[in-house]
Amino acid sequence: MQNNPLWDRLTELASQDAIKDLASLWQKPNRHQALVFEHDNIYLDLSKNWLDEEALAALCDLASHANLQAAIEQLFNGDVVNTTDQLPATHTTLRDPDHPNYQDNIQSIFGLADRVLAGDIKTGFGQPVKQLVNIGIGGSYLGPRLVVEALTELQSESRIPIFFAASVDDSLLNQLFNSIDIEHCLFCISSKSFSTVETLMNARAIHAKLKNIPSYAPNDQQSSLMAITANQQRALEAGIPPHMILLFDESIGGRFSLWSAIGFPIVLAAGKQKFLDLLAGAHAMDLHYRQQEFAHNIPVLMALMSIWYRNFIGLSAYSCLPYDARLRSLPKWLQQLMMESAGKMHNVNGDVINYPTTPWVFGDHGQLSQHAFFQAFHQGIDALPLDFIGVLEHKSPSQDFLLFNLIAQGAALMQGKEEDHSMKGCPGNKPSTTLLLKNLSARSVGQLLAMYEHMIYTQAVIWNINCFDQPGVELGKSIARDIQQHVENNTLNEMALDPSTLALIKKVME
Ligand code: F6P
Repeated sequence: MQNNPLWDRLTELASQDAIKDLASLWQKPNRHQALVFEHDNIYLDLSKNWLDEEALAALCDLASHANLQAAIEQLFNGDVVNTTDQLPATHTTLRDPDHPNYQDNIQSIFGLADRVLAGDIKTGFGQPVKQLVNIGIGGSYLGPRLVVEALTELQSESRIPIFFAASVDDSLLNQLFNSIDIEHCLFCISSKSFSTVETLMNARAIHAKLKNIPSYAPNDQQSSLMAITANQQRALEAGIPPHMILLFDESIGGRFSLWSAIGFPIVLAAGKQKFLDLLAGAHAMDLHYRQQEFAHNIPVLMALMSIWYRNFIGLSAYSCLPYDARLRSLPKWLQQLMMESAGKMHNVNGDVINYPTTPWVFGDHGQLSQHAFFQAFHQGIDALPLDFIGVLEHKSPSQDFLLFNLIAQGAALMQGKEEDHSMKGCPGNKPSTTLLLKNLSARSVGQLLAMYEHMIYTQAVIWNINCFDQPGVELGKSIARDIQQHVENNTLNEMALDPSTLALIKKVME
């Protein structure tokens, strides 16, 4: 970053060998106290990272230098922060009980949910709704899926079981049809734009299946289809009855949308109270983010850690490892949130930047990861920042086992082990962060997810990028459309394609 003395200072701090040597960092008394932070239901331990108080203070200065506080106010005041689309980003208003959007959102979601749960909404077969299939992808899938899994621990707790149809694949659709009770099923087309090709193809395939069933007789009063969208016109054109459309605003980004009507499946699965608690947890995190000084501000600290590793230490990957199966979809949700929001090479003015932005994000349920890719964490040449996430309140011995494993992994990575047989030795000195949630209440889940949203916004402010657009994903989609069209019209030779791509298409057509 040009003309930024703090950037130079951090580069200098990161170049010192001692900052990458955990054994020498731990020589400093009070390290643990200085690098452990607690807020509400979150306990954050940064002490196993390649970082000291001096570097952390310099990172906080970097945030101040980027006018982060003013940028946070712009977000919450509804200023235009999505400069590409000239829109504010209003997801936080949906969880602020003092904002008019809060009541509007709740009333519309709960209004329909009440009618479904009371059996007043009938499917196209004249049957009450007992299941819901969410047809959506990206932000219209990952958030609801994560929260439904997190808050409906046992299937019996779930009022209405939720199924998901995200990618286009006949085998998955067939599997879905074998699992559901189609006559009692409400198919919910969740799409902000109502133009995402995968979602529309799945919706059409499902509609075709419904129409083939003789007893299917939709009318004004009974419908197996509903829509959640910011584009009412397209949903109406697709034949969804007006009373079966839930709307949300264009200013809610897709990957920030689970708090909006997109969260309708969460309400059906987990209940109204849990949805309210989810919003309350997120709102508590909003207040913390807005009010707390950077040195103790959990989302800001998370963002600064990420920037430290990416831009100064020079590590390009990051792994999210929840040690609780209920949070198994967190890495996927976070992957979209981080990589779609911050996978950018242009600053807000459209100029190409000369520093890297998002790391490559991957992860999985911790136990499964241990038996898949932890070998590389322990003995691979590279290090990478890792977040271990655990839930303290637990009800079963297996959860003790999980938490002890989580703790052991962080310790093993840091300590390493010398062995006579060098192949068996682990070098140690590998960094990690531990984040413990007091429990997995809806409130805690709300706090956790809002924390990551604000982490992203903080990164974007410091990187001077727009985290609310995603123009890059359009190119592949438009080439796919062109290929399909040219294959159908037998005009492939008119496309300016490279030999590899052309050969691949021909292979498919053989
Ligand atoms: O992947 C591009 C994207 O636009 C995401 O940003 C979004 O979450 C997803 O597609 C689905 O979009 P929609 O909700 O409009 O169907």
